Amino acid sequence: MPTKENTTIAPADGKLGILIPGIGAVSTTFMAGVEAVKRGLGEPIGSLTQLGTVRLGKRTEGRTPRIQDFVPLAKIEDLVFGGWDIFEDNAYQAAVNAKVLEPALLEKVREPLEAIQPMKAVFDQNYVKRIHGPNVKTGGSRMDHAEMLMEDIRQFQESTGAARLVMIWCGSTEVFHKPAAVHQTLKDFECGLQKNDPDIAPSQIYAYAALKSGVPFANGAPNLTTDTPALLELARARQIPICGKDFKTGQTFIKTLLAPGFKARMLGMSGWFSTNILGNRDGEVLEDPGSFKSKEETKLSVLEQILQPDLYPQLYGNLYHAVRINYYPPRGDSKEGWDNIDIFGWLGYPMQIKIDFLCRDSILAAPLVLDLVLFLDLAQRAGMKGIQEWLSFYFKAPMTAPGLYPEHDVFIQLMKLKNTLRWMRGEDLITHLGLEYYD
Ligand SMILES: NC(=O)c1ccc[n+]([C@@H]2O[C@H](COP(=O)([O-])OP(=O)(O)OC[C@H]3O[C@@H](n4cnc5c(N)ncnc54)[C@H](O)[C@@H]3O)[C@@H](O)[C@H]2O)c1
Repeated sequence: MPTKENTTIAPADGKLGILIPGIGAVSTTFMAGVEAVKRGLGEPIGSLTQLGTVRLGKRTEGRTPRIQDFVPLAKIEDLVFGGWDIFEDNAYQAAVNAKVLEPALLEKVREPLEAIQPMKAVFDQNYVKRIHGPNVKTGGSRMDHAEMLMEDIRQFQESTGAARLVMIWCGSTEVFHKPAAVHQTLKDFECGLQKNDPDIAPSQIYAYAALKSGVPFANGAPNLTTDTPALLELARARQIPICGKDFKTGQTFIKTLLAPGFKARMLGMSGWFSTNILGNRDGEVLEDPGSFKSKEETKLSVLEQILQPDLYPQLYGNLYHAVRINYYPPRGDSKEGWDNIDIFGWLGYPMQIKIDFLCRDSILAAPLVLDLVLFLDLAQRAGMKGIQEWLSFYFKAPMTAPGLYPEHDVFIQLMKLKNTLRWMRGEDLITHLGLEYYD
């Protein structure tokens, strides 16, 4: 046992309740996957908490424990689930409709999934335009809805006997909006909830209810949600960890693998055109220009921040970057993403790279949901509050302290994550200097 931890970490005893707004493709693939792993029906591929290791000390020491043996994480067997959706389908039916996992596998985890009946959602058609469902809370102000959600949270905890809770937004992408006056302070925000201010989005009502209930909150979509001074104030005041935004899964994941490589070699770039066809409900929601704008913002910001055109104007000063998503039902959740990259080298000679990624969106997202809920619960038990920058690894638009630009390079993000774990346990941080091996 290390003796010099920088934090005291409470043990992960008892059940961990995972609360999910949005019982759709991602969340059902996550829950069905966890139930399958519990029964030995599949492997948690893609999950750092389940498969990853962390090197400790010098390369000569040979100490490389599994992450889950190094820090006390909740066990997969201890996870229980609940959630909200505007549709009444239970998690089994929703998973069948999402058509991500094989019917034969779903049949084997049917019982636990059928028990997950979505609670009535807080929904506002102005924020998600393309879908309509009956399972919504009606009447009352936004504050009344926040209180109803807090009551749902209390009841969920009581009925499942969960010792701790985490909430993760896997709901549809809400339309793009910027922080307004109502988002500036907690007082303004609470006043706005009472006055039913239309600038408060449903996802913000869930986040408020979670934070008020002492529950850590992660945002898997590009919505503004907790990225406002008011909700940051609440998270810090209540000592609760939060993170977001927008799971980094398919095309953007590949972008953050490649772009740092081109920059490392000082290769120039004149264009990056990304286009996608996608046929699931997420794709349908993103047909709406307002929701697409939220996605476009997070997808576009990545390259600019990685390539730093202000520092390298001759390499990246004239970059043309475009991202398109088209709803194409035949493909369902199996998205196809094409990238055309125009780069240039020595003396400006141009080259092209083409990528065709036939990916499965929810298969890529599910392990991220698992890692995020386990790490957020760890952060909570370690007394870490507010934005968890070390979880940037999982997001397209990582939340940062105001005025700080986010780190998008996935390998720097991974180093930051692992160094945070080392820091928690009082191990030396790894700098990769390595001069000591040659003394
Ligand atoms: N799959 C990925 O790779 C990936 C990557 C990044 C982000 N995301 C985001 O994750 C989210 C979920 O993706 P998905 O493929 O599961 O979408 P989905 O459409 O299958 O599921 C979203 C669910 O949220 C529900 N919903 C909408 N508003 C709600 C509200 N206010 N309260 C409760 N439920 C609500 C919808 O009815 C739907 O069932 C989307 O916002 C998507 O953009 C997904």
